[in-house]
Parts: sequence; C-alpha cells; structure tokens
Amino acid sequence: MPDLFSPYTLKGITLRNRIAMSPMTMYRARDGLMNDFHLMLLGSRAAGGFGLVFAEQLAIIADGRTSVGCGGIYEDAQIPGLARLCALIKDMGAVPAAQLGHTGRKGSELKPWEGGAQLPADHPDGWQVVGPSALPYGGKYHHPVHALTRDEIQAIHRSYARAAQRALEAGFEWLELHFAHGYLGASFFSPIANQRSDEYGGSVVNRARFHLEAIDAVRAVWPERYPLTMRLGSDDLNTQGVQFDDAILAVSLMKERGLDLADLSLGFNTDDLQTAPFAELGFMIERASRLRREVGIPVATSWNLGLPALADRVIREEAIDLVMLGRPALANPHWPVWAARELAHPDPFSLVPEDWGWWLRNFRAHPACIGWPLAAPTAPPT
Ligand SMILES: Cc1cc2nc3c(=O)[nH]c(=O)nc-3n(C[C@H](O)[C@H](O)[C@H](O)COP(=O)(O)O)c2cc1C
Repeated sequence: MPDLFSPYTLKGITLRNRIAMSPMTMYRARDGLMNDFHLMLLGSRAAGGFGLVFAEQLAIIADGRTSVGCGGIYEDAQIPGLARLCALIKDMGAVPAAQLGHTGRKGSELKPWEGGAQLPADHPDGWQVVGPSALPYGGKYHHPVHALTRDEIQAIHRSYARAAQRALEAGFEWLELHFAHGYLGASFFSPIANQRSDEYGGSVVNRARFHLEAIDAVRAVWPERYPLTMRLGSDDLNTQGVQFDDAILAVSLMKERGLDLADLSLGFNTDDLQTAPFAELGFMIERASRLRREVGIPVATSWNLGLPALADRVIREEAIDLVMLGRPALANPHWPVWAARELAHPDPFSLVPEDWGWWLRNFRAHPACIGWPLAAPTAPPT
C-alpha cells in the first residue's frame, strides 16, 4: 500500500514522493520572464522535499496571461529563465513541471493587490480578451469578449505546441494544460460561457473538442516518456454549467488521446454558485476518486489537503495518486519534512537534499530547537 512518501512513477518519470507543489501565479514576472523571485520560490520548495514542483501557469501567448506580471512561454527568450528554474529544481531532487495556460475572457487584469480590475483593450497593460462566445464573464470581467473563429482556435493550438516545445527545451519533465478556473479551456467546456453552434459547442463531446485538439497538438511534440496531464474544471457548481458527469465523459476521451493524469479542480466559470465547498476539507476527493475508478486514469487534486494525516490517508486509500498543495506550499517551504515529522516518519530529513540532510541528521539540535513545533510540546528548560 503506498503512503504519502512512496515514490510515484508515471510514464518514464519517478517522483520521490506523492507531494506536489500546485501551480500558483505570483504576478512577479516582467515580459513573461522568470527571475530570482521564481528561483527562490520554487527552488526552496524543491529543497523542502516536494516531489513535483510546478512553476506558475505559463501563458502560451502574451495575451493569454492574467496580467502583465504573469509568466510566459510564448517567446524563445523566455527559455533561459525557465531552464535555470528546471536545473535548480532537479538539483534539489524534485521534478520540474510546467503548466501551459491561456486565460481567455479572464485575462487583462491588474494585480489582485492593485484591485484586480479587468483592463480595457486600449489600456497599455490590457488587451482584447477572447472566448468561445462573445459573452463577458460578468462582475469585474465586463469588457467585450471576442468570439474566436475556427482559424483562431487552430492558431491557439499551434501556440500550445510551440509552448510545449519550449518547455521541453527548458528541461521540464512534466507538462500540464490548464483547462480549469474559468480560463480559455474551461470556457470552451462550460455551457455558461460557450454558446457556439459549430463543432466546438453544444454536446459534451463538442465542448471538449478544444481540449482534445490541444492534447493532439501537444502530444505531437511532447515525448511519450514524459507525463502529459490536464487540470480540468470538472463542475461549475451551477445547474446551467459543467456537471461532473460531463467531466467523466471528457476525461475518458482525453485518455484515449494520450492524457496520462487528470488534475481535477472546479468552479470559477461563474460567480453564480449554487454550492460553495471552498472551505471544506478535501472536498475534491470524492469526485477525484470516482473519476479515477470510472475512467481508470491516475488523478491528482488539490483543495484543503494540507493536513498531513488527511493527505496521507487519501494516498493510502488509493483515492488519488498525487496530493497537490497550493497555499500550504506557499506558507511552508518545508511542508513535506514537517508532514513527515507529524506522521512519525522514521527519517524526516531524508526528504531534503542529501548534503543538507546530513547536517540535520548528524549534528543534532535540541529537539525543541529545530525550527518547528514538536508533536508533543516540551516544557521550556528552567
Ligand atoms: C496565489 C495563488 C495562485 C494560483 N495560481 C494558479 C495557477 O497559476 N494555476 C492553477 O492551476 N491554479 C492556481 N491556483 C490554485 C492552486 O494551484 C490550488 O489548486 C488551490 O490553491 C487549492 O489548493 P490549496 O487548498 O492547497 O491551496 C492558485 C492559488 C493561489 C493561492
């Protein structure tokens, strides 16, 4: 029976454990370029014991970013910065993962702490947002949306392929397509955003066509030995939107086209939510394990899995294959080592790079002075 610290092999890649840092957009890039901040952020999580480390969503074209502060993989000039990241992550013993994205009708934003407003197309830091239909998301995303033509859809798929090629050149060994959270792929899948009458709209199969063609385009350049995964918005939490059964059907089609793992998420296609589970512990687990069982594909998921005992249990029960951590990874670069101590792992410092762990194993500190709380608090020395 696997546990949280068991290695995990998918295609030709073996992760040292089942703990992944989930992709997180940090709004710290300029011109889509990775910099010292990203090296610090991702390098420290790789050194902290995460088995798989995702860079933030990388836009496949400049106008596919969330804001002008977001990462990109749309120019060859972005490859060297990404290559530095990959080299550091590998040197720390983790596997570097890229998430390719296009934000569709939710792009052209200010940074969240600058108010997060959507900027109009004629603003110097804004652009014309696009989607399957000319329907703005609503609320703060109120600017007109350009409905993509068939030719434009094909051009986007060619950009996915070129981005995948760049990811390979940079040294990434795991590639994910971001089709969740109301971005372009999620808009195509959702009947709330997609009201097309051509072959990209209507039935579930038609609404998944954008994804299937993107998988085909990427699979043609991304080697079979490396995993190709997808983050899918599997439920719009609204009866007019994506239903979980749609996701089951779509992922089974994607599996036939070469998808290796489904990273399930949900929501953010509409603010009109009929249920909002976002504060519940592990609320994606039941859906993810159902998809794993019914489609027979490995699954990962995130959302409130940062309690070590919960993360370990969902792996032991084989409900999911990989635990993705967002906010816990942001809060604690050494979450895997901390979790190992909490779960009474016999050798928590085996999770950090060998030279670093050597000091912690051989030059022992007072157990209360190692940098995080003891499982059972010790009275301070008098
Ligand atoms: C600051 C921040 C940025 C995020 N950016 C992305 C992103 O670029 N791509 C993505 O798929 N999810 C993104 N997410 C969602 C996380 O990857 C994760 O799924 C979510 O935070 C739930 O997991 P958690 O409960 O462990 O935080 C982001 C979350 C946060 C907090």
